Amino acid sequence: MKKIQKGIVNKIEKIAFDTFVLEISSTVKTANAGQFISILCPPKTLRRPFSIKSFNNGTFEIFFKLKGEGTNYIKSLKIGDGVDFMGPLGQGFKIKNKKSLLVGAGIGIAPMLFLKDELNIANIDNFLITGFKVIDEVIQGFDKTVVGGSVIDFLPEIIEKFKPEIIYSCGPEVVLKLVSKVAKQYNLDAQIAMEKVFACQVGVCRGCVIKILKDGKVQNATICHDGPVFDAKAVVWE
Ligand SMILES: Cc1cc2nc3c(=O)[nH]c(=O)nc-3n(C[C@H](O)[C@H](O)[C@H](O)COP(=O)(O)OP(=O)(O)OC[C@H]3O[C@@H](n4cnc5c(N)ncnc54)[C@H](O)[C@@H]3O)c2cc1C
Ligand code: FES
Repeated sequence: MKKIQKGIVNKIEKIAFDTFVLEISSTVKTANAGQFISILCPPKTLRRPFSIKSFNNGTFEIFFKLKGEGTNYIKSLKIGDGVDFMGPLGQGFKIKNKKSLLVGAGIGIAPMLFLKDELNIANIDNFLITGFKVIDEVIQGFDKTVVGGSVIDFLPEIIEKFKPEIIYSCGPEVVLKLVSKVAKQYNLDAQIAMEKVFACQVGVCRGCVIKILKDGKVQNATICHDGPVFDAKAVVWE
């Protein structure tokens, strides 16, 4: 069983219509873009997973969008409150020294912002495009923001101009499927961060299994433990 961590709320602020940023300090030593933390939201017993948006010296930021009881519990937290969480969990993005195109959609921008920080530190040229359904959801701070339309429609033009060697993406499954398709068309490597409703979050309950191609065979993999980040070519879409 993964260790339960105790964090302290440093900051909690609204950043869009139904989206907030939460900053927690902790004694965690390392975290990578694409990994997540899993927060206990009483009275719920199943923890709620959130991608790490930034990590610095034990301090995490996450973006959370209000959905139900768990996210409303997080919204009720005040500066100085304790946070019971597990993490960082899962396998994050494996950074390559390649010109990188980052594609985020909706709340899937959180790990993309963390990845952009890591790429900038490693001096790897990158471009981040993101999309939101409606203007109220928009969060600032990207190289290109699409509102209303689909980020996918802009990919061919960006690929031709920016000439990336790899694509990294996080967002709804429909976006990830299309990103994988575009990457294949342009013969580019791609890594995608998948999402599903989680129960145990640590690879035990098998509730988040997907099919992947490994060693030439179709095998089961859990999104929470083997992912959430997978090589786009390996994912077998159902
Ligand atoms: C790996 C991973 C990373 C995530 N990162 C973020 C993040 O950075 N920011 C963020 O806001 N959310 C993120 N999520 C989704 C987040 O975990 C859920 O929104 C949250 O658990 C909802 O809890 P709740 O109790 O408020 O809502 P619930 O009462 O549990 O659910 C309310 C509604 O939201 C739906 N829902 C719940 N979980 C998910 C999910 N995983 N995917 C799609 N729909 C869901 C339910 O089906 C239901 O319709 C992530 C999920 C995963 C698996
Ligand atoms: S949520 Fe239990 S195995 Fe992934």
